[in-house]
Amino acid sequence: MTVAVVVQARMGSSRLPGKVMTRLAGMPVLQHVLTRCAQIEGADCVVCAVPDETASEPLEAVARNCGARVSRGSEGDVLARYLGAAREADADIVMRVTSDCPLVDPDICHDVLRLRHDAAADYACNNMPRSFPYGLDCEVFTASALREADRATTEAHDREHVSPWLRRAAHIRRANLTSGRSDIADHRWSLDYPEDLAFFEALYSVLPGGANARMGEVLAALDAHPEIVAINQIRNRGKGPYRTDGAKALVLRGATMDDAELLFHWRNDPTTRENFINGTAVGYEAHIGWLSETLGRADRLLLIAEINSTPIGTIRFDGDAEREISYTIAPEERSNGFGKAMVAQAIMEKDNAFPLIAKIKKGNSASVRIMTHCGFSFVKEEDNLLVFKRSGHARCRPRER
Ligand SMILES: CC(C)(COP(=O)(O)OP(=O)(O)OC[C@H]1O[C@@H](n2cnc3c(N)ncnc32)[C@H](O)[C@@H]1OP(=O)(O)O)[C@@H](O)C(=O)NCCC(=O)NCCS
Repeated sequence: MTVAVVVQARMGSSRLPGKVMTRLAGMPVLQHVLTRCAQIEGADCVVCAVPDETASEPLEAVARNCGARVSRGSEGDVLARYLGAAREADADIVMRVTSDCPLVDPDICHDVLRLRHDAAADYACNNMPRSFPYGLDCEVFTASALREADRATTEAHDREHVSPWLRRAAHIRRANLTSGRSDIADHRWSLDYPEDLAFFEALYSVLPGGANARMGEVLAALDAHPEIVAINQIRNRGKGPYRTDGAKALVLRGATMDDAELLFHWRNDPTTRENFINGTAVGYEAHIGWLSETLGRADRLLLIAEINSTPIGTIRFDGDAEREISYTIAPEERSNGFGKAMVAQAIMEKDNAFPLIAKIKKGNSASVRIMTHCGFSFVKEEDNLLVFKRSGHARCRPRER
């Protein structure tokens, strides 16, 4: 049974070009990642999977210098790149790590490997839902599940992100490692933005274990230096109370087919189902059909709310005269004030001029509070549903599509 850790790396990056070659604590970010991956107990080899182009040469040099193998493949079809790397390494089990996470923790990776083995799972990870700092993510899957994903999906999003199909296919046996802590998932240890680079530079200057530090040591260093945590907080994924000072400006945009996976995940979340009038689980094909129909309808508006470019929720307006609203906040983002902010902003921006109706399941107290906050009045109770209405305010902007 061969276990290969496959680290995807490329020179291109829209936000920070060449970021994985940036030097931190005296060596390129990619070297941090590959050196850490080489320490994962239970892994037989480390493969650096790079795009098949000359721009990848510096990455290859770093990889060989670290004793990692190199595999070349498609830049955009990362799933195919993983498959090629797995084949070349003759791997039965593939661990996926991305090269922009210099603090990836070999002990946590080992735990995920062991979890997959013990659970006899096809796929295991540590972020479904997330309970570790963002940037310590790792996934492991069988090579046969990877081959199945390759045959099963042609969608660009699935191919670029490698694992979406494995994370949603009904028959795939999945397992998730949790940290057992509720207070550390807000940390952001990934290199995507200039603020992240400043964060890592400051962190390495105070990290006693340096490049070898494990999660516990990093957390201890950050506990002692909250000013370092603050450096890239602006890029944090929506955690903490919603502020209106612009640091976490909420942006609404129209949904597209690219949001299919995200909306599918949110729609099938148990709490969402509990609170929706039709709470039955939806299959992926039916969901795609619904989304494509929805996007073509003139009497329906489906919006995605984002904070710092991260989707945090969705709201729908249905109908022409009296419009019915329904909404969901991403399960991991709830109780941060986003629901209240999203509904209020969507009404102000899109439908303030029209009468609105909302049907809230009895007992959904967060949603009832949102109703009150957004100027709705309770009208009646019917079939375990509380009906709220809000009259339109004609002085506001007309609806945009
Ligand atoms: C209902 C939902 C949209 C609320 O969004 P949210 O971001 O979690 O809520 P907010 O943080 O904005 O809080 C809104 C209000 O509810 C309160 N609240 C938040 N979480 C709560 C909880 N778990 N229990 C009770 N009240 C809660 C808040 O204190 C706030 O009240 P306040 O204005 O008096 O301070 C979200 O929980 C969700 O997506 N649920 C599943 C889908 C759903 O129920 N949709 C609504 C049916 S259309």
